[in-house]
Amino acid sequence: MSFPTIRHRRLRSSAAMRNLVREHYLHVNDLIAPIFVIYGEGVKNEIPSMPGVYQWSIDRLEEEVRELTEAGIQAVLLFGIPEHKDSVGTGAYGEDGIVQQATRRIKELAPELVVIADTCLCEFTDHGHCGVVHHTAGSAVVDNDESLELLVRTAVSQAQAGADIIAPSNMMDGFVAAIRKGLDEAGFADIPILSYAVKYSSAYYGPFREAAQSAPQFGDRKTYQMDSANAREALREAQSDIEEGADMLMVKPGLAYLDILRLLKDRFDLPVAVYNVSAEYSMVKAAALRGWIDERAIVLETLTGMKRAGADMIITYHAKDAARWLRS
Ligand code: PBG
Ligand code: ZN
Repeated sequence: MSFPTIRHRRLRSSAAMRNLVREHYLHVNDLIAPIFVIYGEGVKNEIPSMPGVYQWSIDRLEEEVRELTEAGIQAVLLFGIPEHKDSVGTGAYGEDGIVQQATRRIKELAPELVVIADTCLCEFTDHGHCGVVHHTAGSAVVDNDESLELLVRTAVSQAQAGADIIAPSNMMDGFVAAIRKGLDEAGFADIPILSYAVKYSSAYYGPFREAAQSAPQFGDRKTYQMDSANAREALREAQSDIEEGADMLMVKPGLAYLDILRLLKDRFDLPVAVYNVSAEYSMVKAAALRGWIDERAIVLETLTGMKRAGADMIITYHAKDAARWLRS
């Protein structure tokens, strides 16, 4: 008898053999492309730390929407940079807010494209925090309950503009319940909530804050976003959001938190999204531009790894490229 008797390599002998036993597939239907919309006219600004990602003015959105839909992408996540910022983020919930206008424009250009609105205040506040800030005796506190009211207004105005999914990313407590109630009362009982249930305080958001011009002007987000050292806390965050009425959950960032994604996938039965965030993209791009890595292979391996870890949906700046690569 020849040794070894257990030979795993039998099932790896050819491409066809490997295809037969392949467990996970990346599909264009899983991909969500973020879009940054900015005030002004004729703007297509490349974000220096995110080559290939742009800030678009509304009059130029057509170009990006066409490329995305031609690549087969069926969902986008919208972020807006307003002309004016103030302490209470007024630009987030105005009828003519940048995200509301962009939503209407995209729905005009591509009615089938699913528009996901990121519901937060940090792009719209002059202090850059995700809620209302109170200054008391030398310290600044983000007021949870007062912020909820503004977040509800933001979500309702996004739904009124035509958003198909509301995705609150603010990490205030009770935001899902508050937004669910607000949407229901405004006649949007059928609009689902994709909760950024498990959002860690992370250095991986750096390039995004440049893209969205949303860096906190003082302090950090550690009093509302999660501590990266915690895993069981993620279960409590997810549990409470489910009880409050979330339809889908998100884990963010992706690469450094795939264990958390798997944990949620095993524990809960809601669809789970993962956000392959800005610095994850920048690192790949930086190395690819130097010719140090094979970008296409790296990206497809990474995104497939996210599927394997349990993601039903992947929000990624690589969406357009990945969709094209999957086709060819
Ligand atoms: C806003 C928000 C952030 C991201 C998505 N929504 C940044 C933050 O919390 O500072 C990060 C996305 C990325 O890095 O790609 N609350
Ligand atoms: Zn925010």
